[in-house]
Amino acid sequence: MSGVPDFFYKEAQRLRYVARSAFKLLQLQEKYRLIKQGSAVLDLGCAPGAWLQVACQSLGPIQNGGVVVGIDLKKVKVPSDYCDGRVQTVCADVLTLPRDHIRALSPKKAFTVILSDMCPPVSGIKNKDAALSAELGMRALDLAVGRSVLGQNVSDSEKETDESAKTQGDDGILAPGGNLVIKLLESENRQEFNQICKPLFKKASWLRPKATRPSSREIYLICQGLRA
Ligand SMILES: C[S@@+](CC[C@H](N)C(=O)[O-])C[C@H]1O[C@@H](n2cnc3c(N)ncnc32)[C@H](O)[C@@H]1O
Repeated sequence: MSGVPDFFYKEAQRLRYVARSAFKLLQLQEKYRLIKQGSAVLDLGCAPGAWLQVACQSLGPIQNGGVVVGIDLKKVKVPSDYCDGRVQTVCADVLTLPRDHIRALSPKKAFTVILSDMCPPVSGIKNKDAALSAELGMRALDLAVGRSVLGQNVSDSEKETDESAKTQGDDGILAPGGNLVIKLLESENRQEFNQICKPLFKKASWLRPKATRPSSREIYLICQGLRA
């Protein structure tokens, strides 16, 4: 864990979560009930594994099924606390890992919940960090809903790529009715995400969790109920 020990840091240690970030997903889960018993959860940017712990905990008893797949640039050992055999991790770059490779990691070839807590290494240059964060967020959205759907929202220059994506059957990997969470660093890009997501999902809202450090510009977009 990094940063000044604060309430959430100490609570994470006491409750055996591997990072204080666990409390962000716990708050999201309490407020929106995104993960249900038997959900298939994709956790993008999963290191060091606190969201894997909360996600597995939220699946309920092992006999109820479900799966949690975490992907990160860093190799992640599945935490022993709160996680069980339903959790697996993959070391890869989400920006380049093929969609079908990710899809195949779910037994049902789709996920019911996609969480992106991905964050670029922060340089301190506000616009640069926000742009990199938006790129990661857009990748999560693209994976979830598919290029053909996103293509309706992109510029003409990008549409050519979308046509080829369609012919490759590049459908999203979020199941209809599924939920998507995207972390972003505050910037004007935020409104663009809002505009794209609002019509695609039954509900889209913003939350800055209580466990977010005061110095952080992070904010989460919570999209619930992907329209068929
Ligand atoms: C804030 S941490 C995630 C914390 C995690 N949710 C937890 O609770 O343990 C952000 C992670 O995003 C990962 N990340 C950033 N860019 C990525 C990419 N292109 N592909 C995969 N992971 C990425 C980083 O390696 C980092 O571990």
